[in-house]
Amino acid sequence: MTHQQDDKSVERLAPQYLRSAEELRPCGRRSGEPGRLLLTGASGFLGRSLLKRIVKAMPDQDIFCLVRDENSFRSGLSGMSVSGQVHPLIGDLSLPLLGLSAQQWTELGQEVSTIVHAGASVNHFLSLERMVDTNVSGTLALLRLAGEHRDKRMHFISSMSILGRDHAGNRANRLPPQPPPGGYAQSKWLAECLTKICQSAGFDVSTYRVGGLGPDTETGEVNPRDWRWLTMRAALESGRWPISHGGPRWLPVDVAARMVIGNLAHHTAPAERYHLVAPSRPTWDAVFDELVRLGHDLERVDRETWFDTMRDRARARDETAMGILALRLPRQADRENAAQNQDTGAVPIGGVHPESWAPEHLPVTILWAARHGLLEARATSARWSSSSHRAGFPIPDSGRVVQKSVDTHRCHGG
Ligand SMILES: NC(=O)c1ccc[n+]([C@@H]2O[C@H](COP(=O)([O-])OP(=O)(O)OC[C@H]3O[C@@H](n4cnc5c(N)ncnc54)[C@H](OP(=O)(O)O)[C@@H]3O)[C@@H](O)[C@H]2O)c1
Repeated sequence: MTHQQDDKSVERLAPQYLRSAEELRPCGRRSGEPGRLLLTGASGFLGRSLLKRIVKAMPDQDIFCLVRDENSFRSGLSGMSVSGQVHPLIGDLSLPLLGLSAQQWTELGQEVSTIVHAGASVNHFLSLERMVDTNVSGTLALLRLAGEHRDKRMHFISSMSILGRDHAGNRANRLPPQPPPGGYAQSKWLAECLTKICQSAGFDVSTYRVGGLGPDTETGEVNPRDWRWLTMRAALESGRWPISHGGPRWLPVDVAARMVIGNLAHHTAPAERYHLVAPSRPTWDAVFDELVRLGHDLERVDRETWFDTMRDRARARDETAMGILALRLPRQADRENAAQNQDTGAVPIGGVHPESWAPEHLPVTILWAARHGLLEARATSARWSSSSHRAGFPIPDSGRVVQKSVDTHRCHGG
């Protein structure tokens, strides 16, 4: 679907959603009892990090996690100690009542005091039509829940992409009056319109516009579909490094999670819109230099050679290479998210200072990826992988190619 078709869809779909949001009111009942927390998107990159850190920071907090598939949710938690405080709830953001029974819906309405909404269909290739049920109807349903039985505080995870190329409006307190291009960004923009309407009606909704989320600086966990990671991975595996401008502007996912949780803990912080963005970025050259220093054998190549290399890999059904060709990387690396590159106002949120991902985080990132089958083991440098091995980071047998499937249609970067 073209941008023009998406624009027509947003014009057609928006009025019904805006009308529905205008009908919502908070019930006006604030229970003194501490309530439960409802988290959506807990099986995703950010949601997992949020869950892990909420469990740690709030050991007495009962947490419902709305998930579509309990098995994959639980397997994604491997290594995370989850006590009896986490309760998976099978549902679906795109369905009426979030796919819950009427009784479950009522119980949630009564028992939950905080909603953290991180679930979304994150796919820059899909049209608005394909995302509206999950990203817009799902947000509307949660806003409705926020006002039923007891007033709840809602924390909505949005995206810097809603700003499109509207540089002048790149401020947290502003919602652009026109939708940005692209189905995903439009779905997040429309969801923000709903939260804005509800905020004016007295709902307690904070919105967090997230830029590019980078690897976890503590564990090294990467987002396997992030285009910056795909570039690094393909370079490490092919031994070729594409010459490009710019650099990976990444707010580490653990830092983003701590910022949101800082606000959860400060019940008195007023509901606002926040920008969760990295204050700076390393250059791709700095990333390259650090990889070489770590012992990687990398050759700098021009774009043509890089794309030829990726084409050869794609013919061998290498999904990382396919993702790179589909996204025309590293051309995207030069552009980055236009909105993010402006004065983003990276400020402390929830008492946590924003930090940027830096090349020093490469060892833990690469080891995590290798351990989880997201990098050919031989692509880790012998020099430091052996010392890390001693430090307790076992990696798969060297030379064995382990590849987890990367859904190239869901490549994203926010
Ligand atoms: N990653 C970034 O760089 C970035 C940048 C800007 C904004 N964001 C925002 O941050 C949030 C989290 O993104 P992420 O990177 O963690 O994405 P992700 O890894 O793709 O995770 C998305 C989560 O949403 C869930 N989900 C999707 N459709 C659903 C449905 N119909 N019903 C219930 N759950 C559903 C997924 O569950 P399944 O496991 O069942 O698929 C998954 O848990 C999103 O709101 C996104 O817009 C992310």
